[in-house]
Amino acid sequence: MNLFDVYPLNDIEIVKASGSTVWDAQGQEYLDLYGGHAVISIGHTHPHYVKRLTDQLNKVGFYSNSVKIPLQVQLAEKLGVVSGKTDYQLFLCNSGAEANENALKLASFYNGRKKVIAFTGAFHGRTSLAVSATDNPKIIAPVNSTDHIVFLPFNDEDALKKAFADFGGEISSVIIEGIQGVGGIKEASVSFLQLIRTLCDQYDAVYIADSVQCGYGRTGQFYSHDYAGVNADVYTMAKGMGNGFPVAGISISPRFKPWHSMLGTTFGGNHLACAAALAVLEIMEQDHLMENAKNVGDYLIAELRKIEEIREVRGRGLMIGIDLPEELTQVKKNLLFKQHIFTGEAKPNVIRLLPALNLSKEQADQFLENFKIAIKG
Ligand SMILES: Cc1ncc(COP(=O)(O)O)c(C=O)c1O
Repeated sequence: MNLFDVYPLNDIEIVKASGSTVWDAQGQEYLDLYGGHAVISIGHTHPHYVKRLTDQLNKVGFYSNSVKIPLQVQLAEKLGVVSGKTDYQLFLCNSGAEANENALKLASFYNGRKKVIAFTGAFHGRTSLAVSATDNPKIIAPVNSTDHIVFLPFNDEDALKKAFADFGGEISSVIIEGIQGVGGIKEASVSFLQLIRTLCDQYDAVYIADSVQCGYGRTGQFYSHDYAGVNADVYTMAKGMGNGFPVAGISISPRFKPWHSMLGTTFGGNHLACAAALAVLEIMEQDHLMENAKNVGDYLIAELRKIEEIREVRGRGLMIGIDLPEELTQVKKNLLFKQHIFTGEAKPNVIRLLPALNLSKEQADQFLENFKIAIKG
């Protein structure tokens, strides 16, 4: 049997990893500023994480949601504290797309409506409604296409006001990334997020904050949307939550009341997933990782802005987009194969930095030095 060939691959096999360093099968060392796509939040093979997962696996790895799983309650309590939303409720699932799918569904159950507002440049996942709310027709299968989704220009306040004025009574939810990741590290403006809050309140629609990539402390706030100073109704999260163990969730405001079987999943919130997620939050708290993400991120952004060849540097904390001119398309490849540094990308020519939240200033300097070399070719 062959693999279904859907991923363009780099010819590299990673066999060992520690913190923000990974090694390939030939023993070559790399600095990891990609974190396997914003997933590695507390660093690869963190000893506390490895121990907590190993200990849990030796007790019980999995049982379904038909029995009490106290680890879920512990996780909900800790997440409430670390995220600053102690009165919110937690539903656990397995991936970012599934988190968004459940959030959109929850909103529709809540207000009985069907229309969803999404924005140009958005990426919300590949399952049915999440992919329909994603601004990329190439990955929307005919069976997924629906007229329930209305795309509006990102950060366009007049367009949003007009949509609510025209058909506000039909709008179930507004879904938005605090910082668009796949879209090229583009930040939702504070006033735009505040307007979403106001209009959702006015029309009883649901504000869904897709924090799958920009959340979990990456920007220095637990949810990047919170820079706007208003709460979302539902926050979706995934990538950084389990440091590589597949676990995702939605944090739900007290305004939503659950009923049995409203949402559900076989694997969501299993013992191992909860142990992984708890280990991440414990390290985030203990090592002040949100503060580190902000400090090292601010430093990186300031230093990158001094480099003339870069068109624009965008982002917050350790979610950074380096927008390069067309003649510098080779930089990402150079970084990987010559300087041995993993980074992410966004089309057409943006380098995305999504490292572990405990990246050190020395590692940031190592990147900056090598980046300047990579630009020269
Ligand atoms: C903002 C955002 N939402 C949702 C998703 C989907 O997450 P997953 O791949 O875990 O389904 C992604 C993945 O890149 C994302 O960046």
